[in-house]
Amino acid sequence: MAASIYSKGTKVWFEDKERGWISGEVLSTSVHPDESVDITFINERQREISLRTTLKDITNNARNLPPLCNAQEYEQVDDLTHLPHLNEPSILQVMLNRYSQQQLYTYSGIVLVAVNPFADVPIYGQDVIQTYAGRNRDELRPHLFTIAEEAYGAMQSDSQNQTIIVSGESGAGKTESAKYIMRYMASVKSGSIHDTATSTSVEHQVLATNPILEAFGNAKTSRNDNSSRFGKYIQILFDDQSSIVGARIRTYLLERSRISFQQRSERNYHIFYQLCEGVSSEERANFGLDADTTGYRYLSSSSIKIDNVDDATNFSATRQALSVVGIDEEKQLAIFRLLAGILHLGNIEVTHRRDAKDSIIDDKNDAALQKAMELLGIDPVEFAKCTTKKLIDARGEKFSSARTMDQAIGVRDGVAKFIYSSIFDWLVLRINESLSADEAVQREKSFIAVLDIYGFEHFQTNSFEQFCINYANEKLQQQFISHVFKLEQAEYAEEAIDWTTIEFSDNQPCINLIEGKLGIIALLDEESRLATGTDESLIDKLNSQLKTPEHKPVFKDHLHGNEAFLVAHYAGDVSYNIDGFLEKNRGTVPDEHKFLLTNSTNSFLREVAEVGFNVGVDPHLHTAPGSPTKLVSPKNHVAPGLKAVSGRKPTQASIFKSSLLTLMDALQKTEIHYIRCIKPNESKRPWGFDSPLVLAQLRACGVLETIRITSAGYPTRWTYEDFAAR
Ligand SMILES: Nc1ncnc2c1ncn2[C@@H]1O[C@H](COP(=O)(O)OP(=O)(O)O)[C@@H](O)[C@H]1O
Ligand SMILES: [Mg+2]
Repeated sequence: MAASIYSKGTKVWFEDKERGWISGEVLSTSVHPDESVDITFINERQREISLRTTLKDITNNARNLPPLCNAQEYEQVDDLTHLPHLNEPSILQVMLNRYSQQQLYTYSGIVLVAVNPFADVPIYGQDVIQTYAGRNRDELRPHLFTIAEEAYGAMQSDSQNQTIIVSGESGAGKTESAKYIMRYMASVKSGSIHDTATSTSVEHQVLATNPILEAFGNAKTSRNDNSSRFGKYIQILFDDQSSIVGARIRTYLLERSRISFQQRSERNYHIFYQLCEGVSSEERANFGLDADTTGYRYLSSSSIKIDNVDDATNFSATRQALSVVGIDEEKQLAIFRLLAGILHLGNIEVTHRRDAKDSIIDDKNDAALQKAMELLGIDPVEFAKCTTKKLIDARGEKFSSARTMDQAIGVRDGVAKFIYSSIFDWLVLRINESLSADEAVQREKSFIAVLDIYGFEHFQTNSFEQFCINYANEKLQQQFISHVFKLEQAEYAEEAIDWTTIEFSDNQPCINLIEGKLGIIALLDEESRLATGTDESLIDKLNSQLKTPEHKPVFKDHLHGNEAFLVAHYAGDVSYNIDGFLEKNRGTVPDEHKFLLTNSTNSFLREVAEVGFNVGVDPHLHTAPGSPTKLVSPKNHVAPGLKAVSGRKPTQASIFKSSLLTLMDALQKTEIHYIRCIKPNESKRPWGFDSPLVLAQLRACGVLETIRITSAGYPTRWTYEDFAAR
């Protein structure tokens, strides 16, 4: 009986270095009296393979046996969990078959898997939106719109808030998918959105947030020409008629290091190039801006042009979008003035004395210093002084000590990063003010949110940013696990259905390691607050305190134990290089510079800096999704001066951790839908499908594990009640 599973002619899969898996077929099977079995196969490459196994192994579907192929009729199924033989190669084959028929979307139980075509596909137009409106999943092909419609329908019928989590690695198509979903929401009700430039319908305003966030928060990276360098959670607010009344945005961890440095073939944030290319000649003269971006230190190390992207045209689009959300032209000019200030700031020359290490800035003749400070409204002499010298307060006695050249450059760049990220935070705050004003919040009955957040990252060198990103992914993975696995398991148990307990990876130990009481973040913060803390002292601390039996499975020994630490994440081991951890975590400017910024003669800079300094301090800047956001009120204003500002500063990791916990809390209260985006090839080739790459992503995002559990022991997910109700 068992042997018939591998009878002559049975189609099977073999692993293959090049293609991931290739097919094969049973040539002969012979069962021996001792219940051992000899099977001979021939694979696609005409190679014969012999294998000795046992009847018991065959019955148990042992791992050493080649997995079985499905019959041809299953080659393009809509839902992977419907496959009779649920194994990796079969899943991959279905994905490949569908993709080559230009079917980008496939269900895997409750998850929608989306494969990036890297080509224009005419499946997102108004006609398609109307086709999907009001229809359910079984009636039409899998699509982003089925998920959007499910969320919309569930919101209407259950009055429950909804979240669509879009995940995947960089370049997989998360942001594009999120935009299509937002567009669906904006137009499904009204039939069509007003497409005139002057329209300021609320739908139009909601959509206008995209070009703004992209101009200021996206950049060209080696993986994606339009890579989002921040995470976002955007809630679209609906009234009791299911019409859009507003939106609310939360953003996470804008990458700051990009402001002063980019890898080769990468760029700084789009807005800088848009500005340099797109400003009017009058503005150009005012800002002292050169159209040739290679003259700016913060831009010159990067490649300038992106194929098929016109920065000047995009600049007008950005300005228009800013106007749509209520940021008027005067404010826009104030923003651009600061951006130009940042570019000049980067060009300030920092040198050092010939006979000593002390840094020098020429406060009389450095043209970049003069221009930067003119734009920022700060006294150049003061700035030069504070940047080259450190003020030390030793038991009430103040004296100054010289910074080295590298330290002074670090401070200069730190100021630029701070101003930029504060502008970004200010923009988000402003957008929220106009899109979730009191009136909208009063009418709000429920929301549909889209979470577009960076997927798991594992590069050659990984730093603080990857650490935070992967921490977020651990949390999301845990949420996903508990949603899919634990609920399903409970369901089986409740129905007393006999099934083999499926093992799944519980990632709580890794989360404990990162966010626990004496975990990595706690130790990192402790070290960041010490004046004497360095990256070296941090790694020593991690190594001495985390090598405990509790953390052993997730905090592993490392070859480069004094330069990096290694965390065993659910999606793989990642080694984090300690360089820059402390500085990135501190993420702020010295107190003297804080004083200069908050006392600038440029009132807009003061406003922006106040937002920046209050992130993580002011509860209004850290509201849980669901509560209204306000600009910092005057009473929260910290009086400028060294005394007042020397309190406990929130670190970047702790800000991130608390916003992540708030997010997880908010997600918990919504009904969740999952979209997993897959990047099918590294070179962004239209319709290119690299099987091993796809397989790795299906594994990392939990799709394979979901399939395993969904199909375990029981043919379908329907409960008896569901079944009877049908
Ligand atoms: N549905 C799609 N159709 C066509 N091209 C797409 C689609 N999704 C993504 N792309 C292409 O892939 C690029 C990267 O997508 P993006 O959404 O920015 O990735 P992510 O946000 O996951 O990093 C886009 O700029 C676009 O060229
Ligand atoms: Mg993106």
